[in-house]
Amino acid sequence: MKRLLTSLLSLALLFTTHAQTKLTVFANKPVSPVSGTMWGLFFEDINFGADGGLYAELVKNRSFEFPMPLTGWKEVRQGATGKVLIENLSTRPSANQRYAHLTIDASNGAYGLSNEGFRGMGFQKGETYLFSVHARKRDGDVKMRIELVNASGQRIASKDVPALSSAWQEYKVALSCTDTAQKGRLQVLFEGKGNIDIDMLSLFPQNTWKGRPGGLRADLVQLLADMKPGFLRFPGGCIVEGRDLSNRYQWKATVGPVKDRELMVNRWNIEFRHRPAPDYYQTFGLGFYEYFQLSEDVGAEPLPIINCGMACQFNSSEVVAMEGLDPYIQDALDLIEFANGPVTSSWGKMRADMGHPAPFNLKYLGIGNEQWDTQYIERYKAFEKVLKQKHPEIKLVAAAGASPEGKMFDYAWKELRTLNADLVDEHYYQTPDWFLKNAHRYDQYDRKGPKVFAGEYAAQSKSIASAENRNTWQCALSEAAFMTGLERNADVVQMASYAPLFAHVDAWQWTPDLIWFDNLRAYGTPNYYVQKLFSTNKGTHGVPVLADGVSLSGQDSLYASSVIDTQKGEVIIKLVNASSSLKPVAIQLEGIKALRKGGNIQVLTGADKQAVNSLDQPLLVSPKEVALPVKGKTVSLSLQPLSLNVIKVPCTL
Ligand code: AHR
Repeated sequence: MKRLLTSLLSLALLFTTHAQTKLTVFANKPVSPVSGTMWGLFFEDINFGADGGLYAELVKNRSFEFPMPLTGWKEVRQGATGKVLIENLSTRPSANQRYAHLTIDASNGAYGLSNEGFRGMGFQKGETYLFSVHARKRDGDVKMRIELVNASGQRIASKDVPALSSAWQEYKVALSCTDTAQKGRLQVLFEGKGNIDIDMLSLFPQNTWKGRPGGLRADLVQLLADMKPGFLRFPGGCIVEGRDLSNRYQWKATVGPVKDRELMVNRWNIEFRHRPAPDYYQTFGLGFYEYFQLSEDVGAEPLPIINCGMACQFNSSEVVAMEGLDPYIQDALDLIEFANGPVTSSWGKMRADMGHPAPFNLKYLGIGNEQWDTQYIERYKAFEKVLKQKHPEIKLVAAAGASPEGKMFDYAWKELRTLNADLVDEHYYQTPDWFLKNAHRYDQYDRKGPKVFAGEYAAQSKSIASAENRNTWQCALSEAAFMTGLERNADVVQMASYAPLFAHVDAWQWTPDLIWFDNLRAYGTPNYYVQKLFSTNKGTHGVPVLADGVSLSGQDSLYASSVIDTQKGEVIIKLVNASSSLKPVAIQLEGIKALRKGGNIQVLTGADKQAVNSLDQPLLVSPKEVALPVKGKTVSLSLQPLSLNVIKVPCTL
């Protein structure tokens, strides 16, 4: 009885008539253009985002170059004996000095190696997988067979490799799967007697993004492309910095033939004691060429971040001495040449040789990731001096540290304002409440100073870097409220990206993340749908949307921003209701010539604040389209509790 009364009371509260909020959109009074780069992507190889994620290679440690050379590999004995020995030949290029030498005694059964992949390998029934290996026969008579097996060891694909010759040679076979396996394995088996050497064992799905051999996971790239991102920031993140300078990200080591790209430890491998991943390395199969290509594919401006001579200040804080900074600056100059230089230049030629003679049209470059203090400003100035002189056309992104406020943040801004920096990168990993309270953060920012790049943000449901953080609807909604503030101030904020982007459900280090995946599936979080709604409705110009002459930025738990799209002829209004009650609103459209048909409202809401999406329920919190109730030039509607609403009104402007 008590429970019934409580439910009735809550229902009554829900339907209590709230006073209608009257809003006016001034569609003919644009405040500023919305930058084409406004909403973008932050990519970092964290949480198995590249190797084991976006980079579709299924074999872990394909060339035995991990410090423990048999990491990921196990011997397989099927009624036979044999031996594996890792040989190291220092006359080979340093990227690939090791290979496996196998002695096989399998006259009846089979002997070989199996690879476990990245927390298993995902195989899809009916799909084709492309295996390749560099091999040679040393002696004897040995036949090689490739098998894909499921978690219980049942074979779901099998193919013989043509007879091996005594010289190193690459062999390729295509395997078609008769069943699906979530956590499968690769088996490389030998029959007969003899000695063979194998190296660079690789397995890719044929179905990669754009069908590129050795390419990227199609489903993951599709999720990115669907967002129509304005830019792609890569390769991070702290990975740019390294724990110390020896494992900083060096773009030159990530271009050219894949087999010549030298493997390096991933700095996230043991960063968090609660989520160790000692088998986390970077093969750089997804390197700078592929990042530029990906940017182009999804229509995003490339935004590479380059190491500025500083290692992670949360780790070693190592810096290169100022007199040793020149090679770092040269890396930046060479990167610009790689991206934009003519094919006759040495780095431009490298780009052309890799398959892209046309320039990538680089316009932005980040100097350092999340750096702070005097040592950063000193190094930034040295980069800026050279880059602005040689490449005034490139906009530089400067760092403002790890926190969105405080002494270091203020110091960075003071210095960067004096330097007239192009863009300043602000990071906020904060509580949902902080995001709500900061929706007006940029209303008072200096209109004449550097522009803002909201380079990394995500509401933390528990606390920063806590393993208990979840991608809840409450977090996503608070980000949406904050983003209305970014959009309202599009003259100051010109780039924004949620971070991090990807996480493997069995191999993550950091949560929350925008997109989660396993070996076969992927889903967008509620935060993903918030980002997507803003990004796919970014318009061309910000216009005022006012309640009683002021912006709506938290009054009565409501948040609003509005843009027009002069190319499509649309007014787009974003409204967040962060309360638990229905909120009636009436929006008056001023300054439009005529309405056109085809408007709609995208409503994004969750059952409650804790609602999340998952691999099994990927669309639980996802936008639903409803009809647009327009009368005259007024849209009247009741905003659902805890909702983001994107109202699109086609009209003649
Ligand atoms: O997004 C995860 C990490 O958070 C980034 O690598 C770093 O820039 C920030 O501290």
